[in-house]
Amino acid sequence: MANTQISSLCLAIFLLDLANGAVNWNGNNWAMKCDFNGNNLSNVKISSDKCGGKCAETSGCTHFTWTNYNGGTCWMKSGNVSPNDAFETSDSSMVCGYMETSGGGGGGGSQSGKTTRYWDCCKPSCSWNDKAAVTRPVKSCAKNGIDVLGVNEKSGCDGGPSYTCNNQIPFVGGNNVAYGFAAANIPGSNERGWCCACYELTFTSGPVNGQKMVVQVTNTGGDLGANHFDLQIPGGGVGIFNGCQSQWNAPANGWGDRYGGVSSIEGCNDLPAAIREGCKWRFVWFKNADNPTMTFRPVTCPSELTSKSGCIRTQ
Ligand SMILES: *[C@@H]1O[C@H](CO)[C@@H](O)[C@H](O)[C@H]1NC(C)=O
Repeated sequence: MANTQISSLCLAIFLLDLANGAVNWNGNNWAMKCDFNGNNLSNVKISSDKCGGKCAETSGCTHFTWTNYNGGTCWMKSGNVSPNDAFETSDSSMVCGYMETSGGGGGGGSQSGKTTRYWDCCKPSCSWNDKAAVTRPVKSCAKNGIDVLGVNEKSGCDGGPSYTCNNQIPFVGGNNVAYGFAAANIPGSNERGWCCACYELTFTSGPVNGQKMVVQVTNTGGDLGANHFDLQIPGGGVGIFNGCQSQWNAPANGWGDRYGGVSSIEGCNDLPAAIREGCKWRFVWFKNADNPTMTFRPVTCPSELTSKSGCIRTQ
């Protein structure tokens, strides 16, 4: 998980653990080869990757252990707990973890959130220097959406020449997992924590219920609520700024509605061909879902995304 962010809270926990020579949290709020004593609340037969999410949605669950008992059991636990209460086991299949108490965007467990969509053509905020510790800021492009511009070029939404690059559209990869980019707001964290971080979203409502999408965060927005991911989907609405007017000669309110965008796959034909496939994705893989809810968890960024954004977190 080298690319996930380490909030100062998690860093402090990590250092404490080093001092104890105990569980290696690695900047996350879950770890391998560890267990918590007692405090069992309930258990469910489920795979280890779903145990943290199950705890998060179970009332009273504050921490958990997963063991391979009975083909795989998630033991949900209650009560006040500190990461230091976890202990190392010799069983390498075991997983344990704890819930962040206050939202904690830096953690590794799964949390629930909501999505919206947009494509405003503007230079993404993580395209500026010094937003986070990264190999380079997110690529932003000239009007053609292809030529990568220098990081100090002003946004097309601010009278400058810099816009969203065409290849930062959503697409479908192997195993029917979708990939894309998003603006996000995660309480307890900030751009230093989330710029270029990747998250696996599992949609929990609408026609995409159960489908997974991995996004890299390239942007933020003052209009975003808590645990809110605004998915970058061409023709998904140009929002407040509408940089698409100066970049692509889009209508004053963008393609379709200013918020929400086009309402059918045919409407995608009004978009420039260079980003049209990203618009159609919404009506195919995304099944025209309208702002579905989801659970999300930090994941190591796949090269499918970093090869497009150019941005990899270095801590
Ligand atoms: C409580 O949870 C642990 C895992 O932490 C499990 O091994 C144990 O069997 C559980 N005990 C009971 C009584 O359910």
